[in-house]
Amino acid sequence: MSIQYLEKERIFTLHTLNSSYQMQVDKNGYLLHLYYGKRTSGNMDYLLFYSDRGFSGNPYIAGRDKTYSMDTLPQEYPTLGTGDYRNPALILRNSDGSFACALHYEGHRIMQGKYRLKGLPAVYAGEDEAQTLEIRMADPCTGVKVDLLYGIIPSLDIITRSAKISYEGEGTIHLEKVQASCLDFVGGDYDLISFNGRHAMERNFQRTGISHSCQVIGSRRGMSSHQYNPMIIVADRETTEDAGSCYAMSFVYSGGFKAEAEKDQTGGTRVLMGLMDDHFSYPLSRGETFLCPEVIMSYSGNGLSRLSHNLHKCIRRHICRGPHRDGARPILLNSWEGCYFDFNGEDIYRLAVEAMDLGIDLIVMDDGWFGKRDDDYSGLGDWFVNEDKLGESLGHLVKRITDLGIKFGIWFEPECISEDSDLYRAHPDWVLKIPGRDPVLARYQLVLDFSRKEVVDHIFDAVCNILDQGDISYVKWDFNRSIADFYSHDTEDQGKVLYDYMLGLYDFLERLLARYPDLLLEGCSGGGGRFDAGMLYYAPQIWCSDNTDAIDRLRIQYGTSFGYPISAVGSHVSAVPNHQTGRITPLATRGTVAMAGTFGYELDPALMPVEEKEEVRKQIMEYRRFRDLIHDGLYYRLTNPFMDETAAWMFVSEDGSRALVCAVMQNIHGASLPTYLRLKGLKPGTLYREEKSGRLYPAEGLMEAGYLLPVEMGSYNAYRIYFKEYDGEK
Ligand code: GLA
Repeated sequence: MSIQYLEKERIFTLHTLNSSYQMQVDKNGYLLHLYYGKRTSGNMDYLLFYSDRGFSGNPYIAGRDKTYSMDTLPQEYPTLGTGDYRNPALILRNSDGSFACALHYEGHRIMQGKYRLKGLPAVYAGEDEAQTLEIRMADPCTGVKVDLLYGIIPSLDIITRSAKISYEGEGTIHLEKVQASCLDFVGGDYDLISFNGRHAMERNFQRTGISHSCQVIGSRRGMSSHQYNPMIIVADRETTEDAGSCYAMSFVYSGGFKAEAEKDQTGGTRVLMGLMDDHFSYPLSRGETFLCPEVIMSYSGNGLSRLSHNLHKCIRRHICRGPHRDGARPILLNSWEGCYFDFNGEDIYRLAVEAMDLGIDLIVMDDGWFGKRDDDYSGLGDWFVNEDKLGESLGHLVKRITDLGIKFGIWFEPECISEDSDLYRAHPDWVLKIPGRDPVLARYQLVLDFSRKEVVDHIFDAVCNILDQGDISYVKWDFNRSIADFYSHDTEDQGKVLYDYMLGLYDFLERLLARYPDLLLEGCSGGGGRFDAGMLYYAPQIWCSDNTDAIDRLRIQYGTSFGYPISAVGSHVSAVPNHQTGRITPLATRGTVAMAGTFGYELDPALMPVEEKEEVRKQIMEYRRFRDLIHDGLYYRLTNPFMDETAAWMFVSEDGSRALVCAVMQNIHGASLPTYLRLKGLKPGTLYREEKSGRLYPAEGLMEAGYLLPVEMGSYNAYRIYFKEYDGEK
């Protein structure tokens, strides 16, 4: 049993293979957090420290006991109004206007299998793989009930958390802040690792100490965002890739989020993650329920690599769904950087012929095929094929291409609308826009009001109408702006619009996959602006960044790898000089970097010299050969490209018998020093044969002293080195 409840002590313990999580209902009915960390069999209530702290008030029920304060005790789901002045997980406004809520234990249920969240993406698992704990908390003074949900996948060291809030009282309450998870550490010094960025430079790694301040990251953009990713890690100060304790929180949601870390007056550390509370004030009347999207938590006592492995496995097998979850993803050629808006049907057909010749599986017709769309000023919303531009019908083009034996994919941006579009002229009230105010434009476009069912239904029908015109196997789902005007013409309660918008989006995606079960969706939002576990529930791969420069990608993909599996990372080889940076890198280097993802190309092959085409053919064959190792193997970061001149990583099969090491020299100097790459994850006591040289290497040598990279002249050289366990054969 992964969930235990001790009746007498009222202690809940959640056990995974290597971790334990513990909480206790105390004498006054409050739910206190006791412990999260290395697996233990004992009780941790000895950690509770009661002391008289001035200005930390005491619940009335404590009587004259000044040492009992919600302000100092570790909480499981802190609320505003109990005398706990640290960051709360829940803030609500009661129907009488007051903000207080004090949750007390009412009961619990332990269930086999993992809970589901209706209408929201969430981790799923088989009945025998997971358990659920539901703890019912209630405010005795109002009709507020909160079910705290815990899903445990023991084999992966994963615990998920969510909260279901319902109201049974009079009038209407408003939820002003709802977080899914809270961790109160009673002592210690921790670091916060987070991933910040910007368009075309997402998920830069940052590690800072958690101090007596409140560190907040989040997004009030109505999307998870390029600027901060909804995945954070809390680590002991001395934790490294290979050793030490660390904890992850990954939000399974693609809208706004907030994550907070704070060291409190007693030296404790509180970390929270959940919904962004700006633009949020969700009404609940009697009988209504609100579901908070969930957070995936994991603990590793063996450093950051292990933590990433836990998250990778969880997302790969328990978030991603459908036939493409495990299968080989197609190698694709996307038209964007090769053609931008300037193409016709014949150009796309020509790309497909080139693609076929190179061994590519799928051609994607990107932005520009619909409405009036020769640039980004117009056309979004008008999902009608521009046959004049293509010079043929979509059905005809798709048939010509699929007849070649190559698959066809297409680009959409269903949530957005151009002012210059027939749809906007017909339904100006279908956009998020505040009456009487000029809207904020971004890329000259507005956002459709997906909180309204009729809007979702209209776009859904339009998208299906396109997909029904031919054998279309892939859709790139783009979203190219942040939301700014949070106003729906359909409600009085603007505080619910953004959450309902996300429900509308998820409903659309769910219906789309139900209708086209074999469709492969690739998420995108100006590259990686919505790279989160929520989108991965629908789209098992996401275009990682609009930046295809191989050297910048080293950092972007390094940051992404902490929380997300390689199979989720859309990565393409593009032309040089690179369109985002102007940098020139060798084709081999671009190939090596793009292979750490779902591989593809984004260029016009007709412009490549014959030798380069031959190299591309070889890259493709090599990727096919290693695809299972890359997607299903364990991924190890060998260096930190922000600090080290060599960027290196490796994939090791779970049984340790095969390993692919990749390295890119970010810099070159005169009289270069040798680079010894210390490999990871090999089987001790084993000899490995390196394929190209045929040379044998002992695992310990490779892991302790390192593999000596060749010292060669040239800029940005890359290496792919394949090792196989040596079983004595020649
Ligand atoms: C976004 C995407 C690109 C491309 C363009 C098309 O920027 O990230 O890959 O699809 O839109 O407009």
